[in-house]
Amino acid sequence: MNPREEKITAQTVTFVKKELTGAESGHDWWHIFRVWKLAVHIAKKEKANLFVINIGALLHDIADAKFHDGDETVGPKKAENFLQSLGLPEEIISKILNIIRFVSFKNRDEKPADNSLELWIIQDADRLDALGAIGIARAFSYGGFKNREMYNPDIPYKQDMSSAEYKKSESTTINHFYEKLLLLKEMMHTKTGKQLAAERHRFMEQYLKEFYAEWG
Ligand code: ADP
Ligand code: NI
Repeated sequence: MNPREEKITAQTVTFVKKELTGAESGHDWWHIFRVWKLAVHIAKKEKANLFVINIGALLHDIADAKFHDGDETVGPKKAENFLQSLGLPEEIISKILNIIRFVSFKNRDEKPADNSLELWIIQDADRLDALGAIGIARAFSYGGFKNREMYNPDIPYKQDMSSAEYKKSESTTINHFYEKLLLLKEMMHTKTGKQLAAERHRFMEQYLKEFYAEWG
């Protein structure tokens, strides 16, 4: 990246930190930080556009309705205004907005307008943060935030939920493992992403085994 791109990246860090003040711990600045670092790590192996990766990863959750009382329109508008204020070319802005729009698991039934390598990398990085030790911590943090039961042996998990059903699901946190987290390994795009996902997936399977054993 050139010095101007470095400077814009630093400005974006400041903007995102401010926007995410007080966010739930699984979707806070540190989630963004981990996804950002992972995305850059994968991007270096995949020869992707590092500037788009940096800005896209930093802004990937800024448009999430979770942060705007469920309103789906506030976030994208905010992201667009911010990108325009940076004076970036339209072509780069639309690449980044495409990433923000399609990165989410819950929008997986929609087809992205532009299947960019950068979108795939950021999606892999975001999914990796839902896996492994951190993924487990985030799931219980979110479950607690939503006042969900950790586990209830009387509530079976649902298979093959559509993204509409998924969005309104009020499942237990353990069910969330089967409804989302354990499916992610097969959805990875990059070689590095697949390798890391396989390791984190194994760790979660081991964790679940121990969880049931302790449950009784
Ligand atoms: P995305 O941000 O990719 O659209 P979600 O918002 O559905 O995905 O979930 C992001 C993370 O929040 C999940 O990886 C998980 O850690 C946590 N999470 C979301 N829904 C649940 C749930 N029902 N139970 C527990 N954790 C959840
Ligand atoms: Ni995310």
